[in-house]
Amino acid sequence: MSSAKAVARANIALAKYWGKCDVALNLPAVPSISLTLEPLTTETTVTLDAALTADLLLLGGKLAGASETRRAAKLLAGLRERSGERRFARIESVNHFPTASGLASSASGFAALAGAAQAAMGMALRPSELSAIARQASASAARSVYGGFVELPAGVPGDPDLAASPLYPPAYWDVCIVVAVADEGPKETGSTDGMEHTRNTSPYYDAWVNAAPALANDVKRGLDSRDLSRVGEAMEQSTLAFHACAMAAAPGLVYLQPVTLAALATVKRLRKEGVPVYATMDAGPHVKALCAAEDAARVAKALEATPGVLRTIRATPGAGLTVDGVPVGRAHG
Ligand code: DP6
Repeated sequence: MSSAKAVARANIALAKYWGKCDVALNLPAVPSISLTLEPLTTETTVTLDAALTADLLLLGGKLAGASETRRAAKLLAGLRERSGERRFARIESVNHFPTASGLASSASGFAALAGAAQAAMGMALRPSELSAIARQASASAARSVYGGFVELPAGVPGDPDLAASPLYPPAYWDVCIVVAVADEGPKETGSTDGMEHTRNTSPYYDAWVNAAPALANDVKRGLDSRDLSRVGEAMEQSTLAFHACAMAAAPGLVYLQPVTLAALATVKRLRKEGVPVYATMDAGPHVKALCAAEDAARVAKALEATPGVLRTIRATPGAGLTVDGVPVGRAHG
């Protein structure tokens, strides 16, 4: 048996990805920019076993459902084809996220899976290759291969190699993401289905795709000069534009709940009081607030006092993918 273990962290998009330009290759229609988060890690062990007749996925010690297993098995099938490996794998994946954190585990999950699987198969792929493989499973996973601030360009239909690339390492900027955890309520439409539904039915989809690159560029320019208000303002516009576009789908996808709007109002009030803090939301009701590390305690306190917020989680810029304890970037000098 051959085995390898990888660790990857969740990331939050400052400039959002929503919509694909090539569904088969899972290529994003818009560029996105993210921050990889400490301490939200996923640990994945892949063990190749000649006795297995199919890939097996265990999430948090429990056998995963058919669709999750299929998605993981597809990633492994691609790597088997590339390496000549024939054995199936047992995948054991554990999220070290606070339960119901409101942060998606697919980004860290598929980044960790790509890292562990290729190592178990005896490959030593470059970070950009790992990012492209993770991206095919879930585009946000391409970004979790790298630590700190990361960019994933829009795809070009037909090009299978699109990968994320690092912009700045975690130590570049002392910022904090305060997650205001909201009651989950009934299960939402997941990102993959939600963005396809939006692309197929929202009259605002083309407007979103046209507007997103300038917003991503503004986030990037703001990062270049560590300008929190520039990053924050573009970040808020990016999230509200994607939500507006999703809400205009038929039927509409409304991820925001009363608690989301209450938390947004708290963020706005804090800004009026002189605290530079900005909000972003993904395919769920939770608000993630970006602020300077020194303001994190005040932001967390104000969000915790907001009706409907269950608790907050504080995250800081985190490191990229490690395989068997070695950062993948470093393994290649
Ligand atoms: C709203 O990466 O989960 O979080 O590529 O279909 O797996 P797939 O989608 P996914 O979408 C993430 C959407 C988002 C914004 C973002 O993270 O950029």
